[in-house]
Amino acid sequence: SDASNSQIRRLADWDASRLRDLADDHGTPLYVLDRERVRQNYARLEAAFPDAEVLYAAKANALGDVLETVLEAGGGIECASAGELRRALAAGATGDQVHYTAVNPPAADLDIAVEAAAEQPRMTITAGAEDTIDRLAERGYDGRLCLRVNPGIGAGHHEKVRTGADAKFGVPAERAVETVLEAAERGFDVVGIHAHVGSGVSSDDLEAHREFVSRMGDLARNVNEALEPAATDSSTAESAVSKGLEFVDVGGGFGVPYRETDAPLDLEAVATATRDALGPLDARLTIEPGRYLVADAGVLLTRVNTVKPAPETTVVGVDAGMTTLLRPAMYGSYHPICNLASDVDDRSTLEQTVTGPICESADVFCTDRRLPESARGDLLAIGNAGAYGYEMASTYNSRPRPASVVFEADGSSRIARRRETLDDVVRLERSGEERQTQSA
Ligand code: LLP
Repeated sequence: SDASNSQIRRLADWDASRLRDLADDHGTPLYVLDRERVRQNYARLEAAFPDAEVLYAAKANALGDVLETVLEAGGGIECASAGELRRALAAGATGDQVHYTAVNPPAADLDIAVEAAAEQPRMTITAGAEDTIDRLAERGYDGRLCLRVNPGIGAGHHEKVRTGADAKFGVPAERAVETVLEAAERGFDVVGIHAHVGSGVSSDDLEAHREFVSRMGDLARNVNEALEPAATDSSTAESAVSKGLEFVDVGGGFGVPYRETDAPLDLEAVATATRDALGPLDARLTIEPGRYLVADAGVLLTRVNTVKPAPETTVVGVDAGMTTLLRPAMYGSYHPICNLASDVDDRSTLEQTVTGPICESADVFCTDRRLPESARGDLLAIGNAGAYGYEMASTYNSRPRPASVVFEADGSSRIARRRETLDDVVRLERSGEERQTQSA
């Protein structure tokens, strides 16, 4: 049906001539983001979860245009660092639209978060360790606090993104009630509990998701029960605790299809399962999608520089690499690849290995994939690059990071973030001249 088609946007659905023009105008490698697609993804999420608060996980793509799009659509921003917090505030987020989720936060991050919360008292700080609560108290913070718990369940596309059972994240569920009570007694305004179990969850994980959310619902009810007597016992903590939890945040992790044969996530089914599993609760449901909002809104454009026959495959060297898009090298992730050459339909297909310019054998976008025969100068599009693409880029091999272009539904486009130059790459280091004067 039309409705289910609109759930998926395949790489082939992008307007190839428009992408070719953007590559000609701005060079490659180039990240391209379709802002309208972010809006559509947000609208679909909102339709499936009409009562939930949506906090976009900025780590997926922290481009100001993306943050502004989410804020305009009515969402808030989940920030994992002082840098993301700064970006969210710069995009116009107000305190009530910001959660700062501290995972083992460096001191400077906490200073900045506490300072921001002093100016925006509706801001929420999420702590995942008792030490973090202590460190907030040391800084005089006793504002809105959310406790990140570890429900002991993991899910997701790769072991490296299954956070649920990883002890690094959150206070063990068994200690959650006690930790909330202690925080409330210290005067914190405990407003929520939070967990994020993993990223890239598919419809196959629905049972694990249901189990996780039901644990969160039970935990929230236990917390509320524990908080209530405290409200009558202690007059000082009354305002903080008498109202119970405002929200239960079940994190993000909504998966998107990467392979052409992957089915889209049945969002309605996830939403229904979430509501059912949460059970009766006088608290708002909060979700933190990252990937779902931006993955298929972005492509990476890259130019072919080298085509080399090898004994087992044909090696296609492109100008993007693991420093541009790390996911294939780091997780073995599949990203669709499409040759945008205008005569591509006339070419025969061939098994090819697409590689980057980095001196690492992990610098590979695909191995032995059947694609139309590549030629030097071809433009390739790598799909689903809108999430965790630029954000994970590096300057390894002293390679400048690419530019990002945003285009609008009306066909206009603009550079959202310029390409790094070689000057940018060396800027932070002492210059050769400085080294010589200092050693002389
Ligand atoms: N909330 C919290 C607290 C998170 O840690 C994350 C992701 C999210 C929300 C959003 O998850 P999403 O909806 O995007 O799945 N670099 C990996 C993904 C790491 C995700 C880390 N946390 C990748 O490229 O697959």
